[in-house]
Amino acid sequence: MANKVRSIEKVIEGIEQDEGAGARVRRSIGNMERRNFNPFLMFDHFKAKGAAGFPEHPHYGMETITYCVNGGIAHEDFTGKKGIIYPGDLQFMTAGKGIVHSEMPIDGPNGEPAELLQMWVDLPAKLKESPPRYRDLREWEIPRYESDDGKLLVKVVSGKSYGVESLHNLAYTPVHYYHFILKKGAKFSQEVIPEWNYFLYVIKGKGLDLNGTKVHQYENVFFNRDGNYIEGEQTDDDTVEFIIVGGEMLDQTVVQHGPFVACSRDKIMEVFQNYQYAQNGFENRKSWKTLISNGVTQDMVDNQLGGNLQEREKTRKEFLANQANKNVNDEL
Ligand SMILES: *[C@@H]1O[C@H](CO)[C@@H](O)[C@H](O)[C@H]1NC(C)=O
Repeated sequence: MANKVRSIEKVIEGIEQDEGAGARVRRSIGNMERRNFNPFLMFDHFKAKGAAGFPEHPHYGMETITYCVNGGIAHEDFTGKKGIIYPGDLQFMTAGKGIVHSEMPIDGPNGEPAELLQMWVDLPAKLKESPPRYRDLREWEIPRYESDDGKLLVKVVSGKSYGVESLHNLAYTPVHYYHFILKKGAKFSQEVIPEWNYFLYVIKGKGLDLNGTKVHQYENVFFNRDGNYIEGEQTDDDTVEFIIVGGEMLDQTVVQHGPFVACSRDKIMEVFQNYQYAQNGFENRKSWKTLISNGVTQDMVDNQLGGNLQEREKTRKEFLANQANKNVNDEL
């Protein structure tokens, strides 16, 4: 296929609404204008503070991918997994055949609300009955590309950009995820898989020019599947930050009832029963008690949740020192 730039199908701005227990959410997939974008069921940019988070709730048949922009978010689920992600970290949670979890915000350094991007991804039918899984990806584990003039930075969460490749097998459904940061005059060009669906969401900034269409913060750009590149240029004086996310389309029926996503109505009814009677994957509901649903204390952060910031800094430095050693050894 000759190189061809994708055209834009539609630009949707995420409009602010209430969600969960008082969080403010901008939703650009999973609303009236865009019910879903195969394989993506939902995309939210949310701000949340204190006890205004997402106390315990179930999921079935899908994955969530959460990216922390500011502050943090604590997670715990009924398999006993706990953790916190901080700015630049991601969390991959596979609900599979059933999970109950709680996600609660941690304020930013100046008391501002936590800021996060979260998407829901459908699971291929044959993986819907997988056991639940949860993993963190730390900011320092994400490979990056920086241009020589320092105007273009790409964090390669998943996929390949400018020859830099990500870690593998983060999610069950094949997904690409790139975080771009462009200064004025910087151009970017991202190769994409022709058969996959891709969107571009602006986290902050304005003036990003996509072949004459200028987009700004909170806008989500949905592309047609008519090319193998996405290209653009930053025209504004300030920096622009955006993500490009792509996913392999799934050839299956989507029957969604809130956080339960199956391929038929009968299966949804069955999952409801399983949840209600704590059976067939939801057994842990009987014994599990939430720690964080009423809000996260400093003591929880430092102890049960393993989120102490000094420890985090130590881990980061160790990782980077090991990586530097490895690079030196590879060169010798
Ligand atoms: C880019 O813009 C030009 C001029 O408006 C148009 O002819 C062309 O089709 C556009 N290309 C894409 C990929 O949208």
